[in-house]
Amino acid sequence: MKETAPKTCPVALDGGENITRRNFILKALLGVLGTTLAVNGAYFFATVFDFLRPPGIDLEGRTKLGWIAVGSTKNYTEEPKKVDYGDEIVYVYYHKKKLVAFSAACPHVRCIVKYESGKFACPCHAASFSLDGKKITGPPPRGLYEQKLKIQGSSVMLGGGTPAA
Ligand code: FES
Repeated sequence: MKETAPKTCPVALDGGENITRRNFILKALLGVLGTTLAVNGAYFFATVFDFLRPPGIDLEGRTKLGWIAVGSTKNYTEEPKKVDYGDEIVYVYYHKKKLVAFSAACPHVRCIVKYESGKFACPCHAASFSLDGKKITGPPPRGLYEQKLKIQGSSVMLGGGTPAA
């Protein structure tokens, strides 16, 4: 009479009881699946939260930054100039004889847009924006974020941003 091999692991893994190979593989797969779901779920919610947060309304940094002087009005022309506002890059320029400022962070997934040929172009997913910040093409749900700007004497001051229409 032929004997068959036992279907249990000789090592006690489950509270002192021998565990079957099927149960061991099932528990290992459930562990891997649970870990994967937990990591991806956390990443998903962090990404969604970061996407929904406009760069001008940072929970920590930007609201504390307040108004920052970024040079004289004479430093700016109709050619958009990059200016640092905290860790954000902002384009400042004259548009229709008015000094304006727009965040360089694309409202899609925040790649830095580049000024070229009279408009802003995003290198990541080919979005483009007009000089008044409005979306022309591409996946972003809205236009560029307009940066608050005021002039004190001859100094240009930047504050927190609000979305362009
Ligand atoms: S990040 Fe700009 S279009 Fe996607």
